Amino acid sequence: MGIMDDRAQLKGKAALVIGGGGGIGRAVSLDLARAGARVALCDIDPEALAATAGDVRAEGELLLAEIADACDPASIDRVFAAFDALSPHLDILVNVAGGTRFGMFADSTVEDWERDAKWNYLYVLQSCRLAIPRMRAAGGGAIVSVTTIEAHRAAPGYSVYAGYKAALTNFSRSLAVELGREGIRVNTVALESVPTASQAKIRTNFHWKDPSRAEELTRAGFEMYVPMGRTGAHQELSNAVLFLASELSSFITGTTVHVDGGAWASSGWTRWPGDGWYFPRPSPSALERMFPASE
Ligand SMILES: NC(=O)c1ccc[n+]([C@@H]2O[C@H](COP(=O)([O-])OP(=O)(O)OC[C@H]3O[C@@H](n4cnc5c(N)ncnc54)[C@H](O)[C@@H]3O)[C@@H](O)[C@H]2O)c1
Repeated sequence: MGIMDDRAQLKGKAALVIGGGGGIGRAVSLDLARAGARVALCDIDPEALAATAGDVRAEGELLLAEIADACDPASIDRVFAAFDALSPHLDILVNVAGGTRFGMFADSTVEDWERDAKWNYLYVLQSCRLAIPRMRAAGGGAIVSVTTIEAHRAAPGYSVYAGYKAALTNFSRSLAVELGREGIRVNTVALESVPTASQAKIRTNFHWKDPSRAEELTRAGFEMYVPMGRTGAHQELSNAVLFLASELSSFITGTTVHVDGGAWASSGWTRWPGDGWYFPRPSPSALERMFPASE
């Protein structure tokens, strides 16, 4: 066993990933299995769930794969009940499921608010409450929830989502304090953009003059505004989750790891092509294009 495995101590740990079938959740489920954890996962998408469950089994130990809608409390109860039949305790809980639809708050409905509440906040309260006694039985544990840079800044067009992700962030801090003495650590991972199916949908829904250029223009935008000049990879998010789930982070609780290429740090500073970093105004050449000097 190498120094990383030795210190991470993930081997044999029982982990549950909510939204573990596709995209980011798939990366987390597979990496936990590769690190030696026994992995239970649930997802609303039966095909993604079946594919990832098969790959987890091939890479390591699959405890459970359940179709479940995180927004339905009965579904989550069912997942934990099935988990109990297979493991006497839970060591790691990862809450991945979440999302929203773009739209201005003034046009939103009660149904929109309720959907975002369940999808990004309320199910995590339920999964955490169910996890706590099972982690107490293990003598400790790690809870990691996936949030967003929008939990830490304003997000026009995503205001309700941003509000609930911020609530999740502060809930996690508070829970970390409540559970600190029991060795149950609670942290969040805040993403900027990681390409997933839902991200692709958001990009093509933007009001591009030419939707066929959505990918190219989005990439150009990230090059300007993310200090590292790109979006993240599934594995880069998964690396951070593994760190927080493992004993490598044994004295870290109540905090957020920002997996965003420096986007939160730069807070609006923009790298204008050919002109360098400017804030809060556009670069000199962009200003010149927008407001040409009069002859
Ligand atoms: N992708 C990004 O760039 C990005 C940016 C910021 C935050 N996030 C956050 O990351 C998480 C995953 O987002 P994503 O949609 O981009 O990734 P994703 O497509 O990787 O979703 C992960 C899995 O969650 C499942 N899922 C979605 N809703 C579910 C539900 N109600 N019940 C059970 N499973 C469900 C999906 O089927 C998918 O398999 C969310 O919490 C999201 O808010 C993503």
